[in-house]
Amino acid sequence: MELYLDTANLEEIREIAQWGVLSGVTTNPTLVAKEFAARGEKLSQEALEAHLRAICEAVGGPVSAEVTALDAEGMVEQGKRLAALHPRIVVKLPTTEEGLRACRRLSVEGIPVNMTLIFSANQALLAARAGAAYVSPFLGRVDDISWDGGELLREIVELIQVQDLPVRVIAASIRHPRHVTEAALLGADIATMPHAVFKQLLKHPLTDLGLKRFMDDWEKVKP
Ligand code: E4P
Repeated sequence: MELYLDTANLEEIREIAQWGVLSGVTTNPTLVAKEFAARGEKLSQEALEAHLRAICEAVGGPVSAEVTALDAEGMVEQGKRLAALHPRIVVKLPTTEEGLRACRRLSVEGIPVNMTLIFSANQALLAARAGAAYVSPFLGRVDDISWDGGELLREIVELIQVQDLPVRVIAASIRHPRHVTEAALLGADIATMPHAVFKQLLKHPLTDLGLKRFMDDWEKVKP
């Protein structure tokens, strides 16, 4: 399973990219808005496009950039503009009727699409039939309403395997490290997670303690 960062923050991307384990990035309008607000920068079309290009340069893999239009025509127009920014851009579309129509049109033109806000196996099936390259089920938001995000992911992974559909599953809305383990064991192709969860994946108190003990022992006898 590949590991993606779910962020629009360049420092976070550069930091994790240095670990040598980062395969891609996903963004969404909330993450972009948060990033620009944090920097006190006004969000213009030019600034957004420059920022997305910088993200693409910071990561060696696909970068999902989401449209904000709600109609198919607007989604296709925005999608083409986003795709023209960088060869690694994946256009992210909401899983709605308009989103399906736009997905079909963009994918026919060879533009990869990530269908987002997926909360059922049937939505994933529709997205795949519309030509999506990726589907993004939201585990955490399903868990938030006392349903089972893992069960949603299991159904989607199985459906795609049984039906032999050419689409990759991105486990999204990851809230904690157990979600990542669960997604990997269930056969997700990718998990996309916030920077904090990425850091939690690595952390273990026994690793810190063990390293300290090695260093202390070494210190006593080192040449
Ligand atoms: C997916 O690509 C989305 O950006 C994301 O995972 C949403 O997660 P959230 O529920 O933490 O907002």
